[in-house]
Amino acid sequence: MFHENVEIYYSVKANPNPVICSKIKEWGGAFETSSLNEFKLCINSGVSGERIIYSGIGKKNEEIEWVLDRKVYAIVVDSVKELDRIVEISKKRDEPVSIIIRVRLDINIPGSRLFQNRNYFGVCEEELDAILTKIRVIDGIQLLGFHNYGGTQNFNLDYYIESYNKLLSICELAVYTYGMDISTVGIGGGFGVALFEGDCDFQIELFGQYVKSNSSVFTRLGINKLFIDIGRYITSAMGSYITQVMDIKTVKGRKYVIVDGGTHHRSFQSILSTNFKKPLPIYIYRKDGTITMSENGHNINKVTFVGRLCTPTDVLVSNVSISNLSIGDYIIFPNSGSYGPSAGCLFFHLHSIPPEIIVEEQDLYLSSFIECMKKDGDRN
Ligand SMILES: Cc1ncc(COP(=O)(O)O)c(C=O)c1O
Repeated sequence: MFHENVEIYYSVKANPNPVICSKIKEWGGAFETSSLNEFKLCINSGVSGERIIYSGIGKKNEEIEWVLDRKVYAIVVDSVKELDRIVEISKKRDEPVSIIIRVRLDINIPGSRLFQNRNYFGVCEEELDAILTKIRVIDGIQLLGFHNYGGTQNFNLDYYIESYNKLLSICELAVYTYGMDISTVGIGGGFGVALFEGDCDFQIELFGQYVKSNSSVFTRLGINKLFIDIGRYITSAMGSYITQVMDIKTVKGRKYVIVDGGTHHRSFQSILSTNFKKPLPIYIYRKDGTITMSENGHNINKVTFVGRLCTPTDVLVSNVSISNLSIGDYIIFPNSGSYGPSAGCLFFHLHSIPPEIIVEEQDLYLSSFIECMKKDGDRN
């Protein structure tokens, strides 16, 4: 689908389960990490530093040094001051540091809904000349290329094509005006995943075809890697969230189902649940062993699923058409493999941490990023 120079970098933040990291490593994937613990998780899953990019906001010097010690592929620079700190670190270590500059592109095409007007990630386009002038005369900084962050749940192919083309123009500037060798361009994250009726997944094939049909640019500019750092698109369909009905009540004509969980287990999914969009079906595993799907149609009550947090914002999903629900039934939310417990307010109320169950062919076993952090925290 893509050109041979294209490589997927899995964004660990989407689901830092160690089994997923090991599987992606086994399948030949590379990784985008945004914190030292994400980076350590990859290293402890046997991934070599050369297969990891270190992004993240507000990186600390000791984190930068730690990833440099493990031969990280590149550090994605988020600001001019961060670049200055990396220059100092490179001087102190007396060794070159490979960087990619994250550029906050001015793109007028609507992209990620959560993201518009709030994009403070990366350096501004107008800062680039000053940055390139500086880097050109500094020994020790090896500029590999440029990256743009596309937000999350972005379905707009035109947005990605525009940002890709803009990044290539920036590479052109670096190569032809500043005489630099550029090898890498990065696009990500945010390829959208259908969570509501009427949505369809980001059309990755079309983006792949576009890149392929314009691949002469790779040779012309000397670019040998286009990395695509995405998370949700990879793990969303890998997991389901399963919770049990604890209570059912009607308040002022609205029916609420209270489940043994809540938004602290799957924050992003819930933030994206809007009242005016119809959620994709959920499933009910009933006490009699049958499984049924939420439905559209007559004579069914619309219900709102809420969790156990003492806040009215703890809404998992609303306006679901479901009949004959009983206390004790299990509710299954598919497409929940990304931004689950690690992205929720897991410790709110000190509720118990939900187990993560891996299903691998005939095997069922527990694995959690929390256990891994406890262990690795002591070691490092
Ligand atoms: C740099 C970077 N890459 C990739 C992603 C992954 O986004 P998604 O899971 O929506 O693909 C993020 C998410 O915040 C990010 O910050």
